[in-house]
This record gives sequence, structure tokens and C-alpha cells, in this order.
Amino acid sequence: MRQLIPEPPPPRSRPEPELSTVYAYPRGARRWLRANLVASVDGLAQADGASRGLSGPADLRVLRTLRGLADVVLVGGATVRTEGYHRPVVVREEFAEARAAAGQPPAAAIAVVSSSLDVDFDSPLYTDAVTPTITVTVADAPPERLELARAAGEVLIAGPRGRVDLAEAVDRLVDTGRSRLLCEGGPKLLAAVAAAGRLDELCLSVSPQLRAGDGLRLLDGPAFPVPMKLNLHTLLTEDGFLFARYVVT
Ligand SMILES: NC(=O)c1ccc[n+]([C@@H]2O[C@H](COP(=O)([O-])OP(=O)(O)OC[C@H]3O[C@@H](n4cnc5c(N)ncnc54)[C@H](OP(=O)(O)O)[C@@H]3O)[C@@H](O)[C@H]2O)c1
Repeated sequence: MRQLIPEPPPPRSRPEPELSTVYAYPRGARRWLRANLVASVDGLAQADGASRGLSGPADLRVLRTLRGLADVVLVGGATVRTEGYHRPVVVREEFAEARAAAGQPPAAAIAVVSSSLDVDFDSPLYTDAVTPTITVTVADAPPERLELARAAGEVLIAGPRGRVDLAEAVDRLVDTGRSRLLCEGGPKLLAAVAAAGRLDELCLSVSPQLRAGDGLRLLDGPAFPVPMKLNLHTLLTEDGFLFARYVVT
């Protein structure tokens, strides 16, 4: 057992951890998909239908860092619709040098996972993206919507019909040189990514609040046949939040 709070006695003159070092993608991994979500202490991933009420400044710093390190940010169609994902990832000076050195474009691309293609292809998410937004869908998506998606940017077809085949989608991104992946949810997408065997890491922000009531938990999908085991890799704290980095074993 190790005590994190209150902090152990001196020597404690350690500098503030550098988030981009703490969250660096593992070197040499052919593929690494991490998820980053925030949940209340009682496990809810929604506060009044969105995640904003759970977040805070430190959580946003972690989110920005994880975006700054990623090639692609996967988000589910429902999250794009309900969270107002109308903007692409912006270029941040603080990550520019490292991204260029790693051969990455100036900003991560957002990849919207959607079968219905009920997505606003005229929103800045598509029209203002420095790195073009990707639409990940299925072959039997509504043809007229598919046409709009193709006109708006890159389309990746993964699966013949119904739900996107997430193993195929992830593998296709990796095969095209985008191996540092970040999934920002929501809970249905996260559950499906994990069930597809593509989740390598969970970055969980635990927001210091209890909510009870209805709402989605962190993962929303059928029970796994065997519990997924996690190793606690890193644990940070600020303002009562916990920032845990779990690696799937
Ligand atoms: N706490 C957090 O960190 C956090 C993060 C993100 C979101 N959220 C919250 O979560 C809620 C939305 O999450 P959600 O779980 O309902 O939906 P979601 O995971 O954002 O999106 C699910 C959608 O993804 C598309 N999809 C296609 N293939 C899929 C597949 N194989 N598996 C799963 N989804 C697939 C479908 O989009 P189409 O319907 O377009 O076909 C499906 O409706 C919102 O309230 C949002 O605020 C919280």
C-alpha cells in the first residue's frame, strides 16, 4: 500500500510532472489505443446529458495533452451530436515541435464513428479541420449521407452493415500510419472498442462528485465474458480529481 494523499514527507521538492511525458505513448508499439473519459465517483459518464459538468481545468489540461500526442481522436456519433463536437482539434504551439519531430501533422484528426451518418458535414468540425476529419462508417450507410461524407473528407468503411466493425476500423487506421489513437467515447463506443479487443489503455479522470440517478456509466455495452484486467500505471491528482492511467493487461 502506498500513500498518495496527504503526500508523503520530504524529500518532496519534486517539480510538477510534465503531462506530455507522463502520458507519452509507449515507444515502439505498433498500435496503441487509449481512451480518455471523465466519470463521477459513482461511475457516471454523464452529468445532465453531457460530460461538461464532470470536468474541470486539470481534466481539460489532460484532454489537451492527450490530443496533442495523438494521431487520431475517435468519437462516437452520439457524442458528436450531444456534446457539440463542432470543432476540430486545434493546433497548439506547445506540441508543435514534438509533433513535427514524430512525423505527425500539426493537429490530430478527429474520426467520427457513425452508421447513420447523422452528422453535420457543414460544421467547422469538417470545414475548418487542419488535419481532415475522418468519417468511419459501414458499407450500407445511407447513400446520400455517404456522398456528403465523401465530399467532406476521408471516409473509412469498416464493416458491411449495422454497427462499425471497430477492430477493422482501428486496424485500417494503423495500416495507414496512424498508430497513436485516442478514443474520447462515449460509453457505447468505448465498450465496443474494448469488446473488439482494441483497447490498450484507459485514462480515467475521476471527478470528485456523487450524482446517483440515471445516466450512462463509463462503458455501455453487453457484459464482457471475462472481466478486463487493468494495471494502474500512473495516478495524478489536482483539485480533488484523480487522473488514473490504466493499461489493459
Ligand atoms: N464522460 C465522458 O468523458 C464522456 C465522453 C464522451 C461522451 N460522453 C457522454 O456520452 C453520451 C453519448 O455516448 P453514447 O455512449 O450514448 O454514444 P457514443 O459512444 O458517443 O456513440 C455511439 C454511436 O456511435 C456509432 N457507432 C457505430 N458503430 C458503433 C459500434 N460498433 N459501437 C458503438 N457505437 C457505434 C453510432 O452512431 P450513429 O448513431 O451516428 O450511427 C452510435 O449511435 C453523451 O451524453 C455524452 O455527453 C461522456
